[in-house]
Amino acid sequence: MICKFGVGLDNVDVEYAKNKNIYVERTIGTNTNAVAEHVISLIFADAKNLYSSIKSVKENKWIKLTGSEINGKVLGIIGFGSIGQETAKLALNLGMEILAYDIAEIKVDSDMKNSDLFNIASIEEIIENSDYLSLNVPLTNETRNLISEKELEKMKETACLVNAARGGVVDEKALYHALNNKSIRSAYFDVFSTEPPSKGEPLLKLDNFILTPHVASRTVESETRTCKLSASIVADRIKND
Ligand SMILES: NC(=O)c1ccc[n+]([C@@H]2O[C@H](COP(=O)([O-])OP(=O)(O)OC[C@H]3O[C@@H](n4cnc5c(N)ncnc54)[C@H](O)[C@@H]3O)[C@@H](O)[C@H]2O)c1
Repeated sequence: MICKFGVGLDNVDVEYAKNKNIYVERTIGTNTNAVAEHVISLIFADAKNLYSSIKSVKENKWIKLTGSEINGKVLGIIGFGSIGQETAKLALNLGMEILAYDIAEIKVDSDMKNSDLFNIASIEEIIENSDYLSLNVPLTNETRNLISEKELEKMKETACLVNAARGGVVDEKALYHALNNKSIRSAYFDVFSTEPPSKGEPLLKLDNFILTPHVASRTVESETRTCKLSASIVADRIKND
């Protein structure tokens, strides 16, 4: 059997495994909070200019940039599953307005449903109106290059694109042009099409592109939950075999 440490099965050939009678499982929900918190920290990092500020001080400069507040800003979420919904909960508590889209019917608890700050929207409305746009979809044939030139052109000039889902969901060539031409403000990613990116990767040369090394799910708490759940999945499988 294969038990994936996480939810994304895009790096497991599930069809092939099925044909070989290899049982494939995943640890649903154990890293949800960790990734949602990481998305929020990427949003804060952008709003408070953390990267440029820390860099300036380390270079013995003292550049005092003016940041912004995330309270009152619109957070669009494409892919409103576990991580999308948890991110929305955290963001609502910070006073952000949420626009959510999912390919499946969205079901949320009554607190969120009744909040004036929560709305279900079309993908187009989200792209056009978000100050922060967070992608929380799996990588599939439908979501590959979900955000490409056409979508980037429609985003606000002040918008920040956040991708803690999978590399490949954003067309990175189109993103380079959008960031280089400042047609969007910034992009904060935790994932990339090739991990690690190649040395000459043009996006890494831009100050308005920030990449963390696929660490969103890596918290002590999340890894403990994931280890426990995968061990119990394996044990159950052995017991039932
Ligand atoms: N950066 C990290 O460390 C990290 C960690 C965990 C998960 N992830 C990524 O985040 C993704 C989401 O995780 P989750 O736990 O929320 O999964 P989930 O299955 O709970 O949610 C995914 C949601 O995306 C929706 N969706 C699928 N295709 C779509 C489309 N074409 N358009 C709009 N919505 C679509 C699904 O209906 C579902 O509601 C994972 O598949 C994985 O790729 C990244």
